[in-house]
Amino acid sequence: MYSEKVMDHFEHPRNVGEIENASGVGTVGNAKCGDIMRIFLDIDDDGIIRDVKFKTFGCGAAVATSSMATELVKGKTVNEAMQVTNKAVMEALDGLPPVKVHCSLLAEEAIHAALWDYAQKKGIVIEGLEKPKSDIHEGEEQEEEEY
Ligand code: FES
Repeated sequence: MYSEKVMDHFEHPRNVGEIENASGVGTVGNAKCGDIMRIFLDIDDDGIIRDVKFKTFGCGAAVATSSMATELVKGKTVNEAMQVTNKAVMEALDGLPPVKVHCSLLAEEAIHAALWDYAQKKGIVIEGLEKPKSDIHEGEEQEEEEY
């Protein structure tokens, strides 16, 4: 049911933890399943993501997608990090079962929330970044229908 990559990231998640005095922190939840995701970003003066950590109270697919998402944004600029969508994360993991697609949205939204926090603190605008939802359940049905 799950690809080898998903199992690998679930069993050995990368970048689990917290960053003290992070440049940006984002927390999102899904009221439907009760899962919560928090992402910490350490961004340098050039706008490059030097470090990223995550903590989750979430299912296995949420762990695997967040692990992969953190790997994909590390070392990128904040603008490049905007390209790390849940679809990109799922592709990097060789797919997810359709009922688990919403779990990958948790990772994407948590990164956006952390970028939003960073942008607010810095007083900058990140192209394409909208104010994140704290609960991804809104609009979720619509997303699921696309897959
Ligand atoms: Fe809630 Fe996966 S079931 S994030």
